[in-house]
Amino acid sequence: MCGIVGILGTKPVAVDLVDALRRLEYRGYDSAGVATVENGHLERRRAEGKLRNLSERLTREPLNGLAGIGHTRWATHGAPSERNAHPHMSENVSVVHNGIIENFRELKDELMRAGAVFASDTDTEVIAHLISYEMRKGADPVAATKNALARLRGAFALAIIFAGHDNLMIGAREGSPLAVGHGDGQMYLGSDAIALAPFTDQITYLDEGDWAILTREGVEIRDRQGRRVDRPKVTSQASGFLVDKGNHRHFMLKEIHEQPEVISHTLSNYMDMASGRVRFPDLGIDLAKVSRVTISACGTAYYAGLVAKYWLERYARIPVEIDVASELRYREAPLPENGLAVFVSQSGETADTLATLRYCKAAGQTIASVVNVRSSTIARESHVVLPTLAGPEIGVASTKAFTCQLAALACLALAMARARGQLSDERERELVKALLEVPRHMSTLLRDERRYDELAHWMSKSRDVLYLGRGLSYPLALEGALKLKEISYIHAEGYAAGEMKHGPIALIDENVPVVVVAPEDDLFEKTVSNMQEVAARGGRIVLVSNADPESIGCPVAAHVRMPQVHPFVSPIVYALPMQLIAYHTAVLMGTDVDQPRNLAKSVTVE
Ligand code: G6P
Repeated sequence: MCGIVGILGTKPVAVDLVDALRRLEYRGYDSAGVATVENGHLERRRAEGKLRNLSERLTREPLNGLAGIGHTRWATHGAPSERNAHPHMSENVSVVHNGIIENFRELKDELMRAGAVFASDTDTEVIAHLISYEMRKGADPVAATKNALARLRGAFALAIIFAGHDNLMIGAREGSPLAVGHGDGQMYLGSDAIALAPFTDQITYLDEGDWAILTREGVEIRDRQGRRVDRPKVTSQASGFLVDKGNHRHFMLKEIHEQPEVISHTLSNYMDMASGRVRFPDLGIDLAKVSRVTISACGTAYYAGLVAKYWLERYARIPVEIDVASELRYREAPLPENGLAVFVSQSGETADTLATLRYCKAAGQTIASVVNVRSSTIARESHVVLPTLAGPEIGVASTKAFTCQLAALACLALAMARARGQLSDERERELVKALLEVPRHMSTLLRDERRYDELAHWMSKSRDVLYLGRGLSYPLALEGALKLKEISYIHAEGYAAGEMKHGPIALIDENVPVVVVAPEDDLFEKTVSNMQEVAARGGRIVLVSNADPESIGCPVAAHVRMPQVHPFVSPIVYALPMQLIAYHTAVLMGTDVDQPRNLAKSVTVE
């Protein structure tokens, strides 16, 4: 994980480095640091915790170098302390790194035997010492870096500067994203184009195995074998403006409130409003002939995929395999001929999802990705991109990206259903109409947030919370529990309502709130039976439903009243109370809602 940036500038670069890091904070925020070449020497400033600590440090102790690198960290090897913060240094090399060096132990032992003294517990520090070691043997910085790169195993994006070289910066990419930015007499490196947006929109993305030698005059890119290669320069669409919270207290709340609008945008991308029919991009394969759909993703995006499984099976009558990416990639799962593999990712950079995509691509699947960042690696490596138009999502806990993923996946399900002869025109118009009503239902629900106050008070005093749901509401129960634990740190578990009796029922007592996601659909009666089992054991039910609490025949401790919606779209509308219950509980508990502990928005390590 982590975000990296580098600048060869014409004025002191430290302030710009911090500005770029601010745009990369979604990649980690355990510590941050910058280093510059100053009068031929390497100087660095680092600080534990959020970026503002580094900014304050730089105000007290400025850096004046015109060539520099910066880093915002999500800890992998070593605690999130200042000594483990990047940049890491040897006597003449400073490096920032995103990824994991898998063979760092053997390299470290070897370098220590050769006299290197290590000052951190990180895997990254070996890179600096390894390059120095090569330089001591007589290699210049470029040759030394080339030799060092050849010895690294694992995943990395690197930016490297050298003492005595004010007009040189080297970047390298293997498994983690890295972009080169072209300025006017200035050059840049960054984990993504957003980091570089205030400086340049002229971007070259490095391919796997590429490394780049930058001077203020330009860049020379080489591949893994050291051959010079040309990579295209593209104009990035990333905005240079840092998104702000508007009138909202947190980004998460702002993003929750943006949902009616961004869901509308996303839907309109896949629909012909006039005819009430789905208008889907050509996936390059005959949807009628797809033998199976394989879906993979991580975290909240995985739950969007799980909803899609129910939709595709029920409406398009096609078999669907789904697994979290960290499992699917290693299961050696056989993949069928004429298979379609769908990857869901807000960032488009999640390492496990990307690796699974490559596995499926190598196995001959057609690759479609539902991504929010169009310039991302996952988007670039897919045969077809199904964009979500959620706009930048800053809050680490995903909200609007999730519901936009659902909107795009619902359209995919309808497109497949139609292609496979499973959807009459009339039924298609009915389901499209239901989708188009989602933004209105969400706006209505967002008008009254006070109803969560009392519930949040009660939830915030709980040690454990259970979430239950059946059918399309089961993934929502999982998502509700994930949201709550991510931002409030309360232990929460999501379960299929019918499975409760096989385990979680043992947890139930009068102190455990049981949130039941229960729209009045064809499974409602079954869920009511499960609620009765909860009530019989003294459990306190939080009913999230359009049904009247009186109708379920057992006491309900709290009711989040939902509008009557078409069962097809209930997962999108019911996502909202899941988000708001978690949000208001976390606010009451005083946690860092937008940047919860130990998490990061873009997870580029395995
Ligand atoms: C992290 C985030 C989650 C997100 C998951 C997958 O864990 O905290 O909110 O759902 O990564 O990220 P992606 O960018 O692939 O959707």
